[in-house]
Amino acid sequence: MRIILFGPPGVGKGTQAKLLTEEFDSVHISTGDLLREAVKNRTPLGVKAKSYMDAGNLVPDDVMIGLIEEMLNSDRARNSFILDGFPRTVAQAKALDDMFDRMGIKLDGVMSLRVDHEEVVRRLNNRRMCRTCGRIYSLDHLKGKELTQCRNCGGELYHREDDMPDTVKHRLEVYLKQTKPLKDFYRQSGRFIQIDGMQEIGYVHKMILDWIYRNRTQPHIAD
Ligand code: AP5
Repeated sequence: MRIILFGPPGVGKGTQAKLLTEEFDSVHISTGDLLREAVKNRTPLGVKAKSYMDAGNLVPDDVMIGLIEEMLNSDRARNSFILDGFPRTVAQAKALDDMFDRMGIKLDGVMSLRVDHEEVVRRLNNRRMCRTCGRIYSLDHLKGKELTQCRNCGGELYHREDDMPDTVKHRLEVYLKQTKPLKDFYRQSGRFIQIDGMQEIGYVHKMILDWIYRNRTQPHIAD
């Protein structure tokens, strides 16, 4: 299974990617998670990315393209992946197509999640993430000890710096300007589908699975 999950901040890409990863034993390639891990470990990539991320801007294309190329260099990832948060610019999408051609990878689909902007702001205001395992939660479903402690690993839950309302507003502007144009880029590929991300998590997952099973083709390796 080789899928791109696409959409503005907070639409549920990470949530759905984690469900799909379990379903298909795929590699979840989340550029946001990779960058946050690099920031946490103060690697050269993290040091470079931090100021862009804190401000809600995109990290430069050359850095991101190099990172994805590195990730796709493992056999396991090449065979089955869920790309979450990449590509985000036309330059990244073109570079990804070149990589796929070179590596003989055929993409199964690009799924775009759509959610109202007010709901995005609400969800990100309520999102909590685990500092240790990266699991995503919503205050909508937490109570008591769970408000601060991860159910999965006991790690500390935190509110992302870039989820503060002003930064979310800027991230949405960045999305509209730099990322949304990719919809037309992928619509032409014939493997683009828009999914209603306003529905509840399990229902969105079911809509994605329905599409996958209707459209699954073999083999995945391009001629
Ligand atoms: P990244 O981490 O990728 O952020 P994002 O794309 O803005 O997406 P989010 O993680 O905010 O949201 P999501 O869609 O995954 O939603 P989630 O499932 O968590 O990137 C962060 C930064 O890194 C960028 O700003 C940029 O600086 C840099 N970066 C990353 N990739 C880059 C690239 N390719 N190029 C350049 N820079 C890059 O859900 C959100 C909340 O809603 C959760 O609380 C969840 O529980 C809840 N929720 C999910 N689904 C539902 C539902 N159906 N109903 C109700 N609640 C729901």
